[in-house]
Amino acid sequence: MTIIDLRSDTVTRPTAAMRRAMAEAEVGDDVYGEDPSVNCLQSMAAELLGKEAALLVPSGSMANQAALRCLTRHGDVVLAGEGAHLLRYESGAAAAISGVQVETIGRGGLFDADEVHDGVHPLDHHYPPVTVVALENTHNAAGGRIFPLAQMQAIVAAARGHGLRLHLDGARLFNAVVATGIPAERWAEPFDTVSFCLSKGLGAPVGSLVCGSKEVVERVHRIRKMLGGGMRQAGILAAAGIHALEHHVARLAEDHDNARRLAAGLRALGLEVDPPPETNMVMFRQPDTAAFLSALKARGVLLNAVADGRYRAVTHLDVAAGAIDEAVRRIGAALEEIHGAGRARSRSDAG
Ligand SMILES: Cc1ncc(COP(=O)(O)O)c(C=O)c1O
Repeated sequence: MTIIDLRSDTVTRPTAAMRRAMAEAEVGDDVYGEDPSVNCLQSMAAELLGKEAALLVPSGSMANQAALRCLTRHGDVVLAGEGAHLLRYESGAAAAISGVQVETIGRGGLFDADEVHDGVHPLDHHYPPVTVVALENTHNAAGGRIFPLAQMQAIVAAARGHGLRLHLDGARLFNAVVATGIPAERWAEPFDTVSFCLSKGLGAPVGSLVCGSKEVVERVHRIRKMLGGGMRQAGILAAAGIHALEHHVARLAEDHDNARRLAAGLRALGLEVDPPPETNMVMFRQPDTAAFLSALKARGVLLNAVADGRYRAVTHLDVAAGAIDEAVRRIGAALEEIHGAGRARSRSDAG
């Protein structure tokens, strides 16, 4: 039985062509700044995002945390959306490394300019200074949702009005780019720091970039060293990143089509899909979490429960449309097992 792994777009394995590019990469010692492949990737990333400079770091978490460390001082407040990855899933790094307090605003990950205004504390010595707003686009915990551009621009204007700096966690920025047709440069333009990952939908094994002005990236470079993120012949990894940027961006549209295909299949089984997928994630509900997950696992379908009765399935490079149809069939069989054949059939009739 083939496993259909929908837990995350991080589970992709390098393609044969990507492995060839890695094997043939020109390398040097990147801590000396002498790795031609790393330098090439960094220039590509800076140009794509319309920034002066970019720096390769091992992970999206390090990218976020190095950016926050660069933009803040101990005791500052960072405003971020609910469920922000940099707050919730990075092992307390914002507190541990930057000594900042992250305060969440809005609901479900997205927020608006009024919520930024409300989040800024009065100038009074009782309150910690709010200095940064961090956005996540696409938003993971919100189900791969895209921050609407106009809403983002209003937030930026509000933040700048209060003298705040801005970070964009663009781990899946290229999903937003492909889904909207709005270039990465336009999304990135107002931010002091922008991070994006090579190792999610883009299908590389390792690596994220932090992009910004030369001055900001120089400071992030020092912080990367402090965090132990300096890598030597990292060109092997950078070559995978270059290959991903050249060959795996436009194809994200297939992942988005597959997410819609999966959502339609789940709805036809009577499951509630919420919100409708905007990119490569499908969030849906079904009670009996433990029984459901184990019935799925027995049928070779892997996905994650994000809360009791709520699941996230992520489409990616390693699942084609046929595998999505097969996953829906197996999910239907799992539902029949846990609810009894009659109920599952009537649910699927509700299509
Ligand atoms: C929105 C977002 N930011 C950052 C990260 C962190 O990336 P990494 O797992 O490479 O540390 C993730 C990982 O899933 C993510 O979804």
